[in-house]
Amino acid sequence: MKTVKENLLFRLEKFGGILINKTTFARIELNKLEACFLYAVRYCGLEKTIKYFEDNYQTQGLQNILEYDLFEENNGKDLVALPKDIIKHAEKKIEELSKKNILSFPLELTIYPSMYCDLSCSFCFLAEREEKSSKSAQDWRKILEQAKENGILSISILGGEPTRYYDIDNLLRVCDSLKLKTTITTNAQFIKKSTIKVIEQSSYITPVLSLQSLDEKLNFELMGVRPLRQVELIKHFKKIGKKCRINTVYTKQSLEQIKDLVDFCSENNVERFSVANYSEVTGFTRIKKKYDLFDLRKLNERISEYIDSQNYELVFATEGCHLFTAYPELIKDSIEFSKFDEMYFGCRAKYTKMEIMSNGDVLPCIAFLGSEQRKSNAFKSKLVDIWSNDKLYNDIRKFKTKNTRCLSCSLINICQGGCYVNLLREERPEEARDSVCTL
Ligand SMILES: C[S@@+](CC[C@H](N)C(=O)[O-])C[C@H]1O[C@@H](n2cnc3c(N)ncnc32)[C@H](O)[C@@H]1O
Ligand code: SF4
Ligand code: SF4
Repeated sequence: MKTVKENLLFRLEKFGGILINKTTFARIELNKLEACFLYAVRYCGLEKTIKYFEDNYQTQGLQNILEYDLFEENNGKDLVALPKDIIKHAEKKIEELSKKNILSFPLELTIYPSMYCDLSCSFCFLAEREEKSSKSAQDWRKILEQAKENGILSISILGGEPTRYYDIDNLLRVCDSLKLKTTITTNAQFIKKSTIKVIEQSSYITPVLSLQSLDEKLNFELMGVRPLRQVELIKHFKKIGKKCRINTVYTKQSLEQIKDLVDFCSENNVERFSVANYSEVTGFTRIKKKYDLFDLRKLNERISEYIDSQNYELVFATEGCHLFTAYPELIKDSIEFSKFDEMYFGCRAKYTKMEIMSNGDVLPCIAFLGSEQRKSNAFKSKLVDIWSNDKLYNDIRKFKTKNTRCLSCSLINICQGGCYVNLLREERPEEARDSVCTL
């Protein structure tokens, strides 16, 4: 009997459902009929579900998903449920989600197992880097199991410095055993051999190294260390054939310095190089901003051209909230967003991500780090309840701008005036317009 392939994430959503390839992140939005069909396949098997649809509904609307390569032989899973019951359940869940008007669960979960860090980077968005209350990997397991059960797409392990968290090896083993697509982002200064081993042996865990520049002086200025240890670890991963990534925060680097990093990535089989917009949103960063989102766009164009001219295979990405405001042609073209895209682009804190601090505090985004509002606790409440009922989430989701310039912009639905946390700093948040907007 066949069921939905394991490398596909399938979830019911308010518009029907979503199907995401866990490796490529390619996605298909499903209408209600398609979503109910796949939900039934998951619990009853393909053959039984097709028969049920032929007898009771129609299979006409299902040609698309039947043509895609979505199914594989079930590996001993119990598929004895009755399609009728399962479909009823799916319809009820879609209706509930539609009333709440949110995605069923975050797609990305970021955890901060320890806030301790051995460095003090001048661009870092964290307030303090000391640990007061770290939980064990077993405690985090309970959270990660819920994430798995509710269809999380990816886990990101941050900190502080996560490799200095006392139970990191076990935490990584938990992610691996739950088959969760996980990244661990590290400054690579004092990473234990045993931690490197767990990472190397997992096909679910990808290491991301934070590196600002190969220029010793600049990296020292930004991170307080020369780039030596990151370089060594990347070379080690190359030697043993383990894919890794590099993340750089765009603070002071010249185009040439970023190109040097691109060459280095290509020479060392780095799979992905991302350059993040320097975010000052928490208010705890120490260096002044030099580049805006337009500069990041320009960098993207120049570096993409460079990568093409060199025939490098490297995946290069520039990342940052509201980066779409640096592409005014999008706004002029008034592109249409699907229901899912409206939730996926724009502020991820509203609909697609959850961040959990070492003490269990849940933030829709690290931007709320300095907020004094009461936080839900992930070690005490169920993630799915926090996702639908938490006050911080509800406030950020229901915020609607009244700024007249924003109201006439075609991206209003995905933007709502910019970063909510930045807007809250203004006297009249509804009338303000975030200064990150370059339009
Ligand atoms: C907070 S660090 C924690 C993990 C680890 N200590 C490290 O630096 O890789 C996670 C990531 O956030 C990035 N980051 C820190 N401050 C940032 C900022 N103000 N804006 C954008 N990214 C930032 C870091 O460079 C790093 O890649
Ligand atoms: S960016 Fe990472 S390494 Fe640097 S101070 Fe912040 S947590 Fe530590
Ligand atoms: S609250 Fe939203 S817009 Fe602001 S930093 Fe977080 S994800 Fe970005």
